[in-house]
Amino acid sequence: MSLRTLRSLVAVAVATAVATTALVGPPVTAHEARQGGPRHHAPTLRQAAPPGFVIGSAVAGGGHHVDQPYPDPFPNDRVYRHLLGKEFSSVSPENQMKWEFIHPERDTYRFGPADAIVRFARQHHQVVRGHTLLWHNQNPSWLTEGDFTATELRQILRDHVFTVVGHYRGRIQQWDVANEMLDGSGQLRTTDNLWLRELGPGIIADVFRWAHRADPHAQLFFNDYGVEGVNAKSDGYLSLISDLLADGVPVDGFSVQGHLSTRYGFPDDLAANLQRFADLGLETAVTEVDVRMDLPGGAEPTGAQLAQQADYYQRMLEGCLAVDTCRSFTVWGFTDKYSWVPVFFPDEGAATIMTGDFERKPAYYALRSTLADAT
Ligand code: G3I
Repeated sequence: MSLRTLRSLVAVAVATAVATTALVGPPVTAHEARQGGPRHHAPTLRQAAPPGFVIGSAVAGGGHHVDQPYPDPFPNDRVYRHLLGKEFSSVSPENQMKWEFIHPERDTYRFGPADAIVRFARQHHQVVRGHTLLWHNQNPSWLTEGDFTATELRQILRDHVFTVVGHYRGRIQQWDVANEMLDGSGQLRTTDNLWLRELGPGIIADVFRWAHRADPHAQLFFNDYGVEGVNAKSDGYLSLISDLLADGVPVDGFSVQGHLSTRYGFPDDLAANLQRFADLGLETAVTEVDVRMDLPGGAEPTGAQLAQQADYYQRMLEGCLAVDTCRSFTVWGFTDKYSWVPVFFPDEGAATIMTGDFERKPAYYALRSTLADAT
């Protein structure tokens, strides 16, 4: 054999070995396959999560973003999109499915931005939480300032529910059908909620029934803030939902938003509270977690603040994981770059699990290790 032939044979053998390794790689376990591939690095949040448990984020856009000096986040920020797809297995449109956004004129629906999120979710094997159908806030002015009779309003609402829920039929895992129905003392918001004021409390049952007809497989939720623990407001939900279930209304779930502040104590009875809704046969979920802190004059968070924040995130997640029917845990944005918090609360902020430069904070690692421990 000539030296030239030998060299060629060696080259082919090396190339074949490299190609084989590249194609085959290390063995893929069943768990890795479910999570989307082998792991060579530290797992992402979604990879660390137990089977059947989804970890989500709100998808930034609309609302407060409109007035900020940056382009629309979800379509334009590549790093953001990359992390959203990689870290999370559930997404919630932050504003893009709300009335003012998706139904800006009486005869106009604008589905494009929410469609893009649903498409993204499909491409990234994520589920979607729909948000929201019946709320006192972010309703368009044609609706709030229109001089409609009760019959017209009811028809408008019915059309909206059938149109929007029908548009996403089969694509939404959980719908926040009714958002923030009760006030702090557990009474229905009959003053500031247009629907309850004009149409009476019976409209809640109607909307759940319409949504169920429009998408029989979506899980239909009540969602609110300030109901993480056992209190007058969560008591109000327990009684409201029990009555609706007794009447055969298709309510599937109760979710707590989880907007917390290090100023206040942690709601230690979260698991006990969720459990009493689970005992009604309901799905439960944690849907909008963030933990804001005091940053006077734009101060940087201290190590102690970040540690306390991590502890709150971790305990929220542990509370959910402790309840069998709590299988969905969502943060209200994952980067401080786009958080709603500083816009609403001057001198507070840093509420999410990553900095504005997408650096992971202690809260991120606390969530990941809690998920891994539960797996
Ligand atoms: O409607 C006014 C408009 O008239 C005014 O010209 C403009 C000037 O800034 O503000 C408009 O209001 C904005 C609103 O979205 C409606 O688009 C607010 O500034 C803006 O801060 C607001 O932000 C959204 C907020 O919901 C509205 O309540 C946030 O982006 C969104 O993150 C936040 O999300 C809610 C959940 O849906 C429900 N749970 C609480 C959570 C945090 O508030």
